[in-house]
Amino acid sequence: MAEFLTDIKTIRDRARQQIDQGPVTDAYGADLERVLVVLNEALATEIVCTLRYKRHYYTASGLYSEPVAAEFLEHAQEEQQHADKLAERIVQLGGEPDFNPDTLTSRSHAEYDASTDLIEMIKEDLIAERVAVASYTEIVQWLGNGDVTTRRVFEELLAQEEEHADDLRGLLERIPGDRRS
Ligand SMILES: [Fe+2]
Ligand SMILES: [Fe+2]
Repeated sequence: MAEFLTDIKTIRDRARQQIDQGPVTDAYGADLERVLVVLNEALATEIVCTLRYKRHYYTASGLYSEPVAAEFLEHAQEEQQHADKLAERIVQLGGEPDFNPDTLTSRSHAEYDASTDLIEMIKEDLIAERVAVASYTEIVQWLGNGDVTTRRVFEELLAQEEEHADDLRGLLERIPGDRRS
């Protein structure tokens, strides 16, 4: 097994310096400013996704709407939890979570949607999930070992976005093509 890289005394001395930075130490290996920007973009994405699913949940109608609406509601609640996790991490890192509604859609990776057709709703949600999957995958790879805790947050989100995408694909497959709204 490799030697531990830094002696205990050096670690303890460093920990005493800049205590106002909380959990961010000299060992922090990522670009903190950039990480905070990326976290805030993801926060905007999750808020927009929450709003889109809420909109879809309350307006879903038609023969097949009941199980679909239930799925929309579950996803809305999970996207809200994702937003909360991201805001929490931003604050831990000494940043400010941006909840400004004026700039939300321009900062979000995924888009809002107000389709009224059930199939269109599911398709737009699936597209948004695929956007989140692609961008979180890139973020996880970019963070590498530079900020393991933030990476883990994104890994957990990524796993759930993949589940969401799979749920939506399943819904699309189960709704008959000729009676789709
Ligand atoms: Fe999410
Ligand atoms: Fe999602």
